[in-house]
Amino acid sequence: METKPSSRSGRGGLIWHFLKGSRGFFVLCMICAAASALADMVTPQIIRLAVDQVIGGASVDTLSPRVRELLAAAGGSAYLRANLWILALAIVAVALVKAASQYGFRVYNAKGGETLVKTMRDTLYTHIERLPFQWHMQHHTGDIIQRCTSDIDTTRNFVSEQLTNLIRILILLVMSIIFMVGMNPLLTLIAMIPVPVIIAYSIRFHHQIWEGFQQCDENEGKLSAMVQENLTGVRVVRAFGRERYERDRFDQQNEFYTGLWVKMGRIMSRYWSTADILSGLQVMLIVVFGVIFCLRDRMTSGEYIAFLSYNGMLVWPIRMLGRMISEMSKAGVSMERVGQIMDAEEERDDPDGAAPPLNRDICFDHVSFAYEGTAEMLHDISLTIPAGSTLGILGGTGSGKSTLMYLLDRLYPLAPENGKITIGGVDIQQMRLSHLRSGIGIVLQEPFLFSRTLKENLMITSPDLTEADLAEASRTACLEETIDGFSKGYETFVGERGVTLSGGQKQRAAIARMLTQKAPIMIFDDSLSAVDTETDAKIRAALEKRFGQATIILISHRMTTLSKADQVLVLDHGKVAQLGTPEELRNQPGLFREIDQIQSMSREEETA
Ligand SMILES: Nc1ncnc2c1ncn2[C@@H]1O[C@H](COP(=O)(O)OP(=O)(O)O)[C@@H](O)[C@H]1O
Ligand SMILES: [Mg+2]
Repeated sequence: METKPSSRSGRGGLIWHFLKGSRGFFVLCMICAAASALADMVTPQIIRLAVDQVIGGASVDTLSPRVRELLAAAGGSAYLRANLWILALAIVAVALVKAASQYGFRVYNAKGGETLVKTMRDTLYTHIERLPFQWHMQHHTGDIIQRCTSDIDTTRNFVSEQLTNLIRILILLVMSIIFMVGMNPLLTLIAMIPVPVIIAYSIRFHHQIWEGFQQCDENEGKLSAMVQENLTGVRVVRAFGRERYERDRFDQQNEFYTGLWVKMGRIMSRYWSTADILSGLQVMLIVVFGVIFCLRDRMTSGEYIAFLSYNGMLVWPIRMLGRMISEMSKAGVSMERVGQIMDAEEERDDPDGAAPPLNRDICFDHVSFAYEGTAEMLHDISLTIPAGSTLGILGGTGSGKSTLMYLLDRLYPLAPENGKITIGGVDIQQMRLSHLRSGIGIVLQEPFLFSRTLKENLMITSPDLTEADLAEASRTACLEETIDGFSKGYETFVGERGVTLSGGQKQRAAIARMLTQKAPIMIFDDSLSAVDTETDAKIRAALEKRFGQATIILISHRMTTLSKADQVLVLDHGKVAQLGTPEELRNQPGLFREIDQIQSMSREEETA
């Protein structure tokens, strides 16, 4: 997938948009995180009180007025010494508050996280469904799937594991420092010495790891694209005995991908162990200076124990900040990749667009076309298909036959400077897209059936179809016998989990599906290539009988098919080589006559 200029900072709005519906849960989550952090702050104070005032009998003068009030309310130091259970109970009460807030945190976190993921999936899927055909042609399915799964997970993990903890981290950080300064400013200053180093190191690490994650994600996309393609094309792989080649290719990519993560693992281990050493050094400083201060009576033992607890609480948030920065880069990469999909412009359908009747003359007026990033491949094509007539199209592979039909169905937009296509005089670019597409029935060259029942496949065009409609369409498409052959009839599962249809059966199912649409314009893109000549003729006769008024475009190489058309267009390398009735073309030198002669010769041989 090509990478657009990234806008890491611009993704905040997108996250905010995705957070619709889960914001409330995350706010509750943060409140619980704050409560739990505050509970953490209280315990060392109780222990300090127990050590200094209750056990040591120290004066209460050094305590803050608020704590002194609390102590007096509990009955004073002497009373507490006689009733130690009060302090014990206080510690249990704090633990209960902490447990309750942790419980709330987890529950709201899960709710918020899952809601976020659901919103993201819904939004992305809806958006992808609306993206133009061109976009889909340019992107690997596996890569898109990866963006819709693992990139969404990464984002969710960041929000629910990191972002919700931010408040807890900040409370722990700020409150610890406040308490530490309150007890001993000098020792706090000493404790702070290694902090800038730890933070600077975190940031350096963040820069290093950003690129790594991006590489990992891209290669995971490549890997899943490879798997996806191989599973879809498993028959080709087997038929050509390419298992080994494909496996080697996969192995190579898999190994490269694994290597990337191992490298990331090494970078991360280096970071975590260095951070361990740094925080060890920091604790060492406090142990050394704290003991010295205690010995010189500049600090009480209770204060020293509480100080160590707060310091422990300080180290964790500092390291978490580092971790958060690295997770942020990971989530940033994922958001960027999801954002690239969201940036792609949706196919716009103007609800006020024209919706004229489509059983009118179709006119290609000096149409030229180039696929994005390639040279022009349709050159100045002009022709008129009178309403209700049949046009045959003949041309070598790659001559642009399918492309011309895609343009008529507006699967690709046609820029005004490249000519225009009109139906009944109305430019199709001005029409309501849904109107145009429902009025054009197209059987694609490579028909696709969903892994659902035959009935569900046929009913795709409209949920209101009756059994009679289905039967009629199947009869016209010569599919009836095939369906009767299945024990479950229309309820037969086709595709991956059911009956595998032959090429011809698939084509006929696709034709039947299109016929249920009852469109005034019908396009058959080489759709009868896989059925025998006889069935081909039968289907065409049935079509003629039922859809006498429809405008039909038949792309085919069969002379028997083409010679029944009202006019035939011969395309050669994207240019109109010949245009006329079959009779006229038979009397002109050109591709039509050449193929006609070859095929009539082989027909004679067959009958001889
Ligand atoms: N999505 C695409 N992007 C770029 N080039 C394409 C795309 N689809 C088809 N082409 C090219 O356009 C030319 C015409 O293709 P197509 O219309 O499918 O030919 P035909 O149906 O006559 O065999 C071919 O050279 C093909 O390689
Ligand atoms: Mg084609």
